[in-house]
Amino acid sequence: MGQRQRLIVGNWKMHKTVSEAVGFVERLADLLRRETAGPPPVRLEIVLAPPFTALSAVASALAKYPLPKSPPVSAAAQDVYWEDEGAFTGEVSAPMLKDLGCRYVIIGHSERRRYFGETDATAVKKVAAALRHRLRPILCIGETWEQRQGGQTEQVLTAQLTESLSAVEKDQAAEVVIAYEPVWAIGSGHPATPDQAGKAHRYIRTRLMALWGQDAGETAPILYGGSVTPDNTEELLATPEIDGALVGGACLDPVKFARILAIACTPH
Ligand code: PGA
Repeated sequence: MGQRQRLIVGNWKMHKTVSEAVGFVERLADLLRRETAGPPPVRLEIVLAPPFTALSAVASALAKYPLPKSPPVSAAAQDVYWEDEGAFTGEVSAPMLKDLGCRYVIIGHSERRRYFGETDATAVKKVAAALRHRLRPILCIGETWEQRQGGQTEQVLTAQLTESLSAVEKDQAAEVVIAYEPVWAIGSGHPATPDQAGKAHRYIRTRLMALWGQDAGETAPILYGGSVTPDNTEELLATPEIDGALVGGACLDPVKFARILAIACTPH
């Protein structure tokens, strides 16, 4: 995977109140202090993506429980609106997230697409807004089961990447993170096999190189997401094309998430 950094992102989705979120960070800090005795041999960054309501509390809790020997921990939002401010009831902008100390933002998650009408046309505006305000976008793409069965996986990935990244300049490529999340694997307990994920990741890499050229196309980390657990983390991360993971269900339990992080800290 060359010089690319390994990233493990915990997407809390619509879970945890403020007090639960703070309790989680305290417990995770405690577990990481024990699990990571020295600096990790792998360049890893941990990212927590709580709901908007808990972002501020999570950022303060992270500052309160520094982990000198553990990998850096950053906060991410689960969504962003593309305008900076205005009459957009219910929306949250990139400057607001930046002000809270966010470093990342998840964009185009399949649940946003399925339940809230998001498309590649909205993802492109969100990616551009994130980059404009120095937030790293984590762009989620992936095919449904029907699309996979119909042999359309590559076509779907190409369309999603081409439109969603159309506003990204070559010199911004290093800020972008891609999450390959086959829709059928999310929350299903049936992850893609390392072989299936590796094939998709290789294909995504060729598309990134086609968009940005060889060097810039090599820089964006490509994460795998969909039913990642402590039991399958090792084999997924051992796949050379997989630069990290976007974890949903298993990141809600600090013990499971710390286990995943400890596995991710060791070279494969
Ligand atoms: P899951 O969710 O790990 O629960 O499958 C992953 C995601 O939706 O990002």
